[in-house]
Amino acid sequence: MNMNPQFSETNPKEGVVGQPLDRIDGRAKVTGQATYSAEYNQLPNLTHAVLKTSDIAKGRVQRIDISTAAKQPGVLAIFTHENLPKLAKLPNTPEDKKALNAPMGYMPMTSDQIFYAGQPVAVVVADTLENAQYAASLIRVNSKAEVPVAAYHDPKATLYVPESVQGRLDGVTRRNDAQAAFQRAPVQLTATYSHATIHHNMMEPGATTAHWEAPDRLTIYDTTQGISETQKTVSQMLGLSVEQVRVVTKYLGGGFGSKAWVWPHTVLAALAAKAVKRPVKLVLTRPQQFTSMGYREEQQQVLRLGATQSGKLTSLIHEKTSTTSPWDDYAETNSRIIGMLYELPAYESTYRMARANVMTPTSTRAPGDMPGSFAIECSMDDLAAHLNIDPIQVRLINYAEKDSSTGHPWSSKSLKECYTRGAELFGWSKRNPKAGETRQGRMLVGMGMATASYPVHNSQGNARVRLYADGRAVVQSGATDLGTGTYTIITQVAADSLGLPAEKVRFELGDSTLPSTAWSGGSTAAGRVSSSVYLAAQDIWQKLIKIAVADRKSPLYQANPTDVVMEKGRLQLKADPGKGESFGELMKRASLGDIEGSALGRYGSSYEAPQTTANADPKEKEHASGHSMHAFGAHFCEVHVDPELGTVRVSRWVSVMAAGRILNPKTARSQVMGGSIFGIGAALMEQTKQDPNLARYTNASLADYHIPVNADIPNMVVDFIEEHDPYVNAMGVKGIGEISIVGVTAAVANAVFHATGKRLRSLPMTPSKVLEALREPV
Ligand code: MOS
Repeated sequence: MNMNPQFSETNPKEGVVGQPLDRIDGRAKVTGQATYSAEYNQLPNLTHAVLKTSDIAKGRVQRIDISTAAKQPGVLAIFTHENLPKLAKLPNTPEDKKALNAPMGYMPMTSDQIFYAGQPVAVVVADTLENAQYAASLIRVNSKAEVPVAAYHDPKATLYVPESVQGRLDGVTRRNDAQAAFQRAPVQLTATYSHATIHHNMMEPGATTAHWEAPDRLTIYDTTQGISETQKTVSQMLGLSVEQVRVVTKYLGGGFGSKAWVWPHTVLAALAAKAVKRPVKLVLTRPQQFTSMGYREEQQQVLRLGATQSGKLTSLIHEKTSTTSPWDDYAETNSRIIGMLYELPAYESTYRMARANVMTPTSTRAPGDMPGSFAIECSMDDLAAHLNIDPIQVRLINYAEKDSSTGHPWSSKSLKECYTRGAELFGWSKRNPKAGETRQGRMLVGMGMATASYPVHNSQGNARVRLYADGRAVVQSGATDLGTGTYTIITQVAADSLGLPAEKVRFELGDSTLPSTAWSGGSTAAGRVSSSVYLAAQDIWQKLIKIAVADRKSPLYQANPTDVVMEKGRLQLKADPGKGESFGELMKRASLGDIEGSALGRYGSSYEAPQTTANADPKEKEHASGHSMHAFGAHFCEVHVDPELGTVRVSRWVSVMAAGRILNPKTARSQVMGGSIFGIGAALMEQTKQDPNLARYTNASLADYHIPVNADIPNMVVDFIEEHDPYVNAMGVKGIGEISIVGVTAAVANAVFHATGKRLRSLPMTPSKVLEALREPV
């Protein structure tokens, strides 16, 4: 195998990588200098687009009257299904969907059909936002409504087992005979878990500013996690070449998976801008956000667990039932984590879904692993309670020394260390082994924990580094920073890789004119971009070493290139560090003002790694190195449950993560806190409610959709187990964005069980559900 040198083998011990550097984009953000996709207001003759959406969830538009609206001042154009310019390609068939990488399902306004409430039926373009909004309010839509299907549990819904889930997983997977193993198991536990619909609700809504700079040249400032992917999808849909579309995303106000794909509003903005021959800005309203960019689907899981009397798993049988849209077999792939988290001889997993009149669900922070961990980690807690074994101990009894789902060894795994460190930081030893027996005043107090894990997905991407003789560098990669710290961590890596102070490095991202790289999704960006930047710097050193050993005036003249190393910006002999020179001296003598390096960074440090989609599933796309690659961690939670009010308060929190090299402990800590808070929200309050008859969301605003606020969250303790993983990528980075939410809902539910002796398996655990559980006889 052609292994790259790892960062740690070629770099100085001291440097900025691993230091808690402040965000370098922090100042621009707090002073308003950072330009988000809806803030390109200096574009000449900028216009504003507003969506008019459908009130009904199923039916047809019979008549749409735009006559009054069109006469309003400032109105430039109104588009409906009757006059929307034709698109070159639509994502309306499974094949086209795949080619377009667009899970939007159906492109609105390409027919009179209505598939979901909130589906755009008209786009109004006007000179001001207010004029566009007012005109949109005057559009009269006469529709023929049909009775919609609301969700999988709607009596009108038809359940089916899909052939595949998102074209990635089989509808049914089997490993040995899990049914027989379950029947034989001395301990049999069966439980049903349910999750409400959850929306990403990032602060920055979806927004697109579309600007045709020439009749065949489009620039879109778009809220996307994937610059290259958006460029590809939009160009194909508009019938342009990839080069004719430029995508710019300098800053994002959160994504969490909602901005991982191209959604209809982006295409509508581009079409409208072309038609009115002026730049168009389209920003989704908060209610529109609930029906425009996907969400985490409502779902139910049944998990049957077979084990020995000593607590060893013998079988797991998992069934998931969920809601999907009229066109897509979309379900989060919960089965992945359930089948790999512990040593497991027999496993079976089945997906059932129902088509309902809703927008397509989509990737939402740790898709699949987040809800999957709720089922497996609550069931493991049940097993521990059933057998009177400590919850950590039951996990150690089932500790997987290799990946049961593939049989492969781990590239690295420090989960035991996470348990130990977490237990220590949390004070787990003080936990009363009996549930429902710890009180503080009238509060019931409980302690729970859960395991976290997230895969290191395959992905690849390019970076370019230009080093100047005067000691500056410009680093480029067409990635996006979701707001999580990409600007900062890549600057750190570039600085150390080039032997420069961080202030001398400028990192440019967020533009499709930069070297193309895969999306910032699936927790891949930190590992991929850092590795490609590091390898691009190596490319520069190789070029400079070549020049040095051929230069009579260089102290390294005629040295063997493999004997020369770079140390803090100096080229020197490995065996005789005194012999060498700075890159500046060498470049000056060679009359080189600057020098460029580039590299393709790939997950799996093998260059033979297969080219796969960014979100490839380990089951079907094995890493070439033959290792299973995952980050692991553990969450610990203490709750106070009020037995009279049914409220649950998280009073203490500890997360310990082992995710390879931590590039910046400050931004990493923020990621883990953010993921944990997101998970606490899902555990205790987040739910998108739907009217079962109309299939419309009833709380589509931040006033009615509850997310945790500061008062809901205690001081959080976050720690890391540093790992040196030689396989994942050249930087040894596994990614931390998604693992941080995995296991969180289970840790909270396990703490509630420990506090009350009652198991709540329906999320969110609202006060009414808690009171109901407390009333049940033991
Ligand atoms: Mo992530 S949910 O892959 O953006």
